[in-house]
Amino acid sequence: MILSIESSCDDSAIAITDIKTKKLLFHKKISQELEHSVYGGVVPELAARLHAEALPKILEQCEPYFKELKAVAVTSTPGLAVTLVEGVTMAKAVAVALGIPIIGVNHLVGHIYSLFIDKETQFPITVLLVSGGHTQVMEVKSLQDIETVAKSMDDSFGESFDKVAKMMGLGYPGGPLIQELAKTGDRKKYNFTIPLSQSPLISFSYSGLKNAVRLAVEKSNEDDYKDIAASFEHIATKHLIQKLKKYFKIKQPKTFAIVGGASANLYLRSQIEELLKPFDAQLLLSELKYCSDNAAMIGRVAVEMYEKEIFSSLDELAISPKSKL
Ligand code: KG4
Ligand code: ZN
Repeated sequence: MILSIESSCDDSAIAITDIKTKKLLFHKKISQELEHSVYGGVVPELAARLHAEALPKILEQCEPYFKELKAVAVTSTPGLAVTLVEGVTMAKAVAVALGIPIIGVNHLVGHIYSLFIDKETQFPITVLLVSGGHTQVMEVKSLQDIETVAKSMDDSFGESFDKVAKMMGLGYPGGPLIQELAKTGDRKKYNFTIPLSQSPLISFSYSGLKNAVRLAVEKSNEDDYKDIAASFEHIATKHLIQKLKKYFKIKQPKTFAIVGGASANLYLRSQIEELLKPFDAQLLLSELKYCSDNAAMIGRVAVEMYEKEIFSSLDELAISPKSKL
């Protein structure tokens, strides 16, 4: 069994995964959404303090598994430096106390493996990762063969939802709040410009759209928010679809997946389904509960790394806020 720890942002989570069967045996997550909500975004120092409180409480519940642990895994990149440190420090303490190896996991690879919790892997896949920190397309052939083929030049898809929600004073995280508000709104009411639509680049950009929405919010009253939310969600999604369409002209997908917190967005899911129809491509999705940050996906990657004996030495394993992917 492997114990895995996730603390890259505002979720404290620990999982236990069986190495042989790949089954998830235990998973507990304590989210900090309420605490950050009043600030309209994650406050790193507050997040770190809350991890320091939450992680030991969850670890205590894992004690019955301690004797059977073969390794401890932890998210070491990317994320907030002050929160990654909380998880890595705990993982090192567990490794020393139990005399087991440590595995440093890339959080983005974790999101890819959220597709395979309790399951065997399925490669190759083209993956769209949409989270709070990342918007990127990756060609995944195996654990060690992951190529990023498109990414955002500025803000991410999920982050733009958080910012728009903050402008409207809705709270955090913005994704589910905007999705809910958009349900009753008119998607065509605000004619926001689709980012990079005239550009041949296969890249993403959300800062211009965010600023256009800011102007609309400033000029309107609360009754208009639902239409702004719906129009924003429509254009934010259309941008992704346009660029994916362009990419599919270069490389047709056989199996396509959406992962990350924002892959829970129902409008995005429906538009991707439409996009894939002419290609007869299979769509893989993570279970809703594993779209957002969790330790089960970190454990699932760790099982693969354990089998390949990809371990870190205790003094080598350091955090890195930016991902190499
Ligand atoms: O993957 P995740 O839990 O954390 C990061 O790795 O960043 O993703 C969190 C992001 C937040 O920006 C949140 O607003 C967004 O995912 N999100 C959504 C939805 N649910 C969560 N964005 C759009 N629609 C949603 N339904
Ligand atoms: Zn994430």
